[in-house]
Amino acid sequence: MAHATHETLAPLLARHAGKPAELLELLHSLQDTDGFVDPAHLPAIAAALNLSRAEVHGVVTFYHHFRTAPPPRTIIQLCRAEACQSRGGEALARHIEGCTGGRFDGEPCGDIGLESVYCLGQCALSPALTINDTLHARVTPARFDALLSEAQSACAEGDRS
Ligand code: FES
Repeated sequence: MAHATHETLAPLLARHAGKPAELLELLHSLQDTDGFVDPAHLPAIAAALNLSRAEVHGVVTFYHHFRTAPPPRTIIQLCRAEACQSRGGEALARHIEGCTGGRFDGEPCGDIGLESVYCLGQCALSPALTINDTLHARVTPARFDALLSEAQSACAEGDRS
């Protein structure tokens, strides 16, 4: 995933110039392309869309979806909703925090980010989680350890290719 550059921003500014109602669309496109919304771009976005910097900053910080720093290399999203909770999800959460050293919904720990989500549509196969957008169901602590190690190997191979 590329990091934000003014080359990727310019076409978006041109497309949405003078259209303040399209701020969210622009921010989603920017994050889809670059992985995050670089705070350095906010003044240019505000100027192009005829908004104040405070308005743009307010939107970026209001929606948890938007990242303002490059994302961690590995993102684990664990379902914390009822069906998963009742089938070992919270014990799995403690295991994941213990073995990664991170905290769910806290700052990323090294290259790993832990995020809570509420239902992944796998309630009958709970507990469920995703690792870098790949869905896994009926995850036990032992299975999680294997899945994490596979995901981290795949990232390392991606770096070498
Ligand atoms: S409650 Fe966890 S997948 Fe639905």
